[in-house]
Amino acid sequence: MTADPFRLGWFGNLAAPEWKSPYSGIDATTNYFNGRFYVDMVRNLERAGFDFLMIEDSLMVSDIYRGTAEIELKHARYAPKMDPVVAASMLAAATEHIGIIATASTTFYHPYQLARQFATLNNLTGGRVGWNIVTSSEDLAAQNYGLDKLPEHDLRYEMAEEFVDVAMKLWGSWEDGAILADPESGYYADYKKVHPIHHEGRFYKSRGPLNVPPGPGGRPVFCQAGGSPRGRDFAAKHADIILTIPHGVEGAKEYRADIRARAAKFGRNPDDIKVFSVVYPIVGETEQEAKEKNAAWYARKEHNFEVQMAHFAATMEIDFSQFDPDQPIPDDVSTNGHQSQLEVWRKQLGGRTIREGFSGMRVQTTEMVGTPDSIAAQMDEFMQEVGGDGFLIYGQPISRQSIAEMTDGVAPALQRRGLLRTDYAHSTLRENLRSFS
Ligand SMILES: Cc1cc2nc3c(=O)[nH]c(=O)nc-3n(C[C@H](O)[C@H](O)[C@H](O)COP(=O)(O)O)c2cc1C
Repeated sequence: MTADPFRLGWFGNLAAPEWKSPYSGIDATTNYFNGRFYVDMVRNLERAGFDFLMIEDSLMVSDIYRGTAEIELKHARYAPKMDPVVAASMLAAATEHIGIIATASTTFYHPYQLARQFATLNNLTGGRVGWNIVTSSEDLAAQNYGLDKLPEHDLRYEMAEEFVDVAMKLWGSWEDGAILADPESGYYADYKKVHPIHHEGRFYKSRGPLNVPPGPGGRPVFCQAGGSPRGRDFAAKHADIILTIPHGVEGAKEYRADIRARAAKFGRNPDDIKVFSVVYPIVGETEQEAKEKNAAWYARKEHNFEVQMAHFAATMEIDFSQFDPDQPIPDDVSTNGHQSQLEVWRKQLGGRTIREGFSGMRVQTTEMVGTPDSIAAQMDEFMQEVGGDGFLIYGQPISRQSIAEMTDGVAPALQRRGLLRTDYAHSTLRENLRSFS
């Protein structure tokens, strides 16, 4: 028995790729800053049948850990990082079929600016663009945008609700058929089909209409990764793609079932939402090589610990240097950032100390280690249990080699098993996503 076909996406960002390996060449310097590394990457993903490249984002250089940006900049995980909305244009121009999903924050954009930029991208890409809707989780980012602090977690989602509402109205401000380009009548656009929106809400005011039509499908594809109950509701109500870092197969199953139930509650067809589980496959030419690679990763304890500390500082704004690393996380730690993620990590740590737990912790919790063919088999098994819809491949820092392991190893192995697309039946990301359930 095999699972039904499923989808692959890549969880990327525009941070520097691998720079320590002898095979890095000029990828982390010249080819990073001129975008060529990512152009080559997205072409490879398209060749391999990925549905999309999702580009994560954050908006600050964090100096939370020990009160300095040293560890953050030393490991280059969150900075430097280029703007995904701008880069999406370049990546789409280099490809024909694959979706490009750019992250943009409802807390820092204005709906008009976002609606205009994504309508532009949706037109330029022929309907291949997605918006990863985030509310952001860093006070440091807020301080870059003229605020002292982020609005509180649930309030950010209330703002996001109205934000999406305004953006939808703006994309809807051009009716289908508004472009006439008719030399006979002398009208390029039909003014009777372009309408102001006159939105005046609790958080936003926008007159409209948008000064560009919305492009194929009427709006970009929506992607979201809500983890908290409030976030899950938001995602289930709006998103076409939902991202999750599942707690093993059981966690993935629970999350997908929960999202589908919430979607039905909002009157949506649950099949219109595709849930992608983050996995970080460790691939080797032989089982032994893959196991050794995996063991080598765990052996870099000091390095892993530092990277985790920088990660927590950046995403949660918790400075773990204030706690005794040889004790468990204190009970009273909380965050206004990624609330649900803190709880997941607390659970993963169990009773272990901060040092012990974080020096061996990866972003995901579902371990996949093996040859391309055995990774394909593990994915198959996972999907048989969970029931769909796709995997989001993660791995940082990335390199041409780690990309090739997926695009030239695992993806063809999945295709041989009939589990991954070999071509794109449609021209838009949404249609391709929904071309099978
Ligand atoms: C796979 C994945 C990707 C995410 N990408 C981003 C991102 O690019 N920028 C960001 O600010 N938050 C990102 N987040 C955080 C989510 O938007 C969300 O805040 C988080 O999952 C916590 O859920 P909550 O907001 O419901 O508490 C991501 C989360 C996941 C699981």
